[in-house]
Amino acid sequence: MSNEYKIAVLPGDAIGPEIMTQAVRVFDVLARHRDIAFKLTEAPFGAAAYFEHGHAFPEQTKKICDQADAILKGPVGLSFEESQKIPVEEQAERGAILPLRARFNTFANFRPIYLSEQMIHFSPLKAEVIPQGVDILLIRELVGGLYFGEKSRGVNDQGKRYVKEVLEYDEDQVRQVLKVGFEQAQQRKKVLHNIHKSNVLMSSVFWNEILAEVQVDYPDVEVKHLLVDAAATALCLNPGQFDVMVMENMFGDILSDQAGGILGSLGLMPSACVGPDKAYYEPSHGSAPDIAGQNIANPYSMIGSVAMMLDMSFDLKAESDAVWEAMKSVFEAGYSTSDLSSADSGTTIVSTTEFGDKVMKKLDTLLKAL
Ligand code: IPM
Ligand code: MN
Repeated sequence: MSNEYKIAVLPGDAIGPEIMTQAVRVFDVLARHRDIAFKLTEAPFGAAAYFEHGHAFPEQTKKICDQADAILKGPVGLSFEESQKIPVEEQAERGAILPLRARFNTFANFRPIYLSEQMIHFSPLKAEVIPQGVDILLIRELVGGLYFGEKSRGVNDQGKRYVKEVLEYDEDQVRQVLKVGFEQAQQRKKVLHNIHKSNVLMSSVFWNEILAEVQVDYPDVEVKHLLVDAAATALCLNPGQFDVMVMENMFGDILSDQAGGILGSLGLMPSACVGPDKAYYEPSHGSAPDIAGQNIANPYSMIGSVAMMLDMSFDLKAESDAVWEAMKSVFEAGYSTSDLSSADSGTTIVSTTEFGDKVMKKLDTLLKAL
């Protein structure tokens, strides 16, 4: 087995470079303890890439991503006002993120929603609602549905302006992501929550039909069906009832941000976007232009994305666990970035770099002991 990994690093916009700087430190710490070489290649991606190179996902970046074993992507995008300086099709979301997902067909988006028991004070939910913390794996279909369907606008027969956006899935697209949901459920608590809207949408009726076919191969997994609107309520009232959840693209976008709210901050939401050949890793949140350059952004979701890469792309499970453990221990020791603490929670607020320092120090100790 090769012990050299090529990683494309796309720092992105606004807080992207700040949190990326902390995240890539994990590779340095690891390389001190393991006979592994991580070859990182930085590449422009997002709004800054557009201003410098004329494209949000420049050709040179595509090449670097093609050649990499895995891709680490920071958040991209600018404030609404700044985005207006960029043509719609080159704005970071449409010009960079969606093409990246399409290029590597990253159909399965893993979004862990996790708070340890010692971290429940970060949640806006009452402690008695989440006595054991939160531990959910949300699986979101990422390359189909409304995001990638045909789009058109124009003027109709009555002279009215109209817009049309198509929600389309073929059976293979649905099957492949459902299989991921079942496999994950099998490895965890053997319960899969299928989130849909089959009381209204034909696409959900279709989705559920495919699910019934896939389910036959996973007799040990119990499926629980839940409408997406009811799931939103249930996530607030009793998140502990969920373990693995699977859903289509748009539902997953919305419920995963809600999940970030349940944790107390989107800063706690790393993710993995997995395709048949390679995966890319990114925080689920945006680039937070309002706090860029202040060294206060929470790097957890970016560092957590590295942890997911170690496990899922490089099979370095113990090392990945050590990264999670290191971050948890920093929070549990009473430190937090400013997005997470409330005035009365008794935590010490640390900067982006201080959080990184503490995590790397702990990680170093953990890896030594492994
Ligand atoms: C996410 C983001 C993206 C999405 C945007 C930035 C295109 O919100 O990853 O959840 O909607 O998928
Ligand atoms: Mn989103």
